[in-house]
Amino acid sequence: MASCGYFSVLLHAFVFATLTTSAFSQLSPYFYDKTCPNALRTIRSVVEAAVKKEPRMGASLLRLHFHDCFVNGCDGSILLDPTPTIDSEKNSDANFQSARGFEVVDDIKNEVDYVCGTGIVSCADILTVAARDSVVALGGPTWEVELGRRDSTTANKTEANIQIPRPSSSLSQLIIHFNNHGLDINDLVVLSGGHTIGFARCVSYRNRIYNDTNIDPFYARQLQQICPENGENFNLAPLDPMGPNHFGSGYFSDLIQKKGLLHSDQELFNGGYTDELVLKYSHDTQAFNKNFAISMIKMGNIQPPPGDQGEIRFDCRRVNDNID
Ligand code: HEM
Ligand SMILES: *[C@@H]1O[C@H](CO)[C@@H](O)[C@H](O)[C@H]1NC(C)=O
Ligand SMILES: *[C@@H]1O[C@H](CO)[C@@H](O)[C@H](O)[C@H]1NC(C)=O
Repeated sequence: MASCGYFSVLLHAFVFATLTTSAFSQLSPYFYDKTCPNALRTIRSVVEAAVKKEPRMGASLLRLHFHDCFVNGCDGSILLDPTPTIDSEKNSDANFQSARGFEVVDDIKNEVDYVCGTGIVSCADILTVAARDSVVALGGPTWEVELGRRDSTTANKTEANIQIPRPSSSLSQLIIHFNNHGLDINDLVVLSGGHTIGFARCVSYRNRIYNDTNIDPFYARQLQQICPENGENFNLAPLDPMGPNHFGSGYFSDLIQKKGLLHSDQELFNGGYTDELVLKYSHDTQAFNKNFAISMIKMGNIQPPPGDQGEIRFDCRRVNDNID
């Protein structure tokens, strides 16, 4: 019965692979209820203090989660510092001199590990919860966060450069980027509403305010005062001209008035497929809040590649040492 033995080996391999890969996919809001019952309130209290100290931090933490999820799934890969073997995503085009909030993630990790012990709560979950708590702290909607992610043992700057959309993107490029992660045009529009908070640097919107024609001319001139044609690359402007520290649907009204700060923002309301969604969310804040929560959960479910076992990092910036 050689063939039967062979079949059973195959079957075992299949079951084993299924079990080990599904360790990732079984997320649950109750994942830490027994092992770390105070995890969620501990994360929230650090986030609330950080946002109170500097409101922009809420925006920065939300963006970190997005940039984490778009590169090989939500696995904390963005948090890894460069080493000879880690090609840090912090050095990718979208993150270099732009991504921020890493110290707050460190603070949360220290607090959570102090409260629950090390090796229990993953950095990827911390970032997911911190993004939700940031939105809530700035007046946005809440939702139940799915938990049980594991931290990556690798990072990939090249992949970050490919996967994270650029501010120069066209609508069709944005749609492709989101589709690549199982997100549809509604997710694209709703999640872009994350730009209701936070800031962008002059380098991110310069081309738009000097070259784009679908921009309100007064708004463009106002921005040109902050962002000259050359230099001052780090001067900040709010992504939502109605105010960067409050989470609301003002972002969509901005777009209707041709006051999107980034070229990619205005692409969502420029005569294409997504105009209707922008119109809907501009006058239905409730629908925006509700769907933002749904799409955030969807984004938070983006999985690392199958077979990637991961670990629970002791330090969010470094992979664990393998001490044999
Ligand atoms: C649709 C494609 C997107 C593009 C092209 C894009 C691009 C950008 C750019 C260029 C900046 C400014 C960075 C800088 O100049 O330092 C920025 C900031 C930001 N983005 Fe996005 N983004 C996109 C989607 C998202 C999504 C889905 C979220 C979250 C749900 C998000 C949240 C944020 C936040 C909160 C900020 C402000 C961060 C801060 O002030 O520190 N973005 N984005
Ligand atoms: C990083 O991503 C690139 C682009 O997808 C891929 O070609 C490369 O093999 C990846 N590197 C590692 C170490 O996985
Ligand atoms: C405007 O577009 C031209 C042509 O693409 C480019 O050379 C120039 O640098 C752009 N100006 C700004 C301020 O980005």
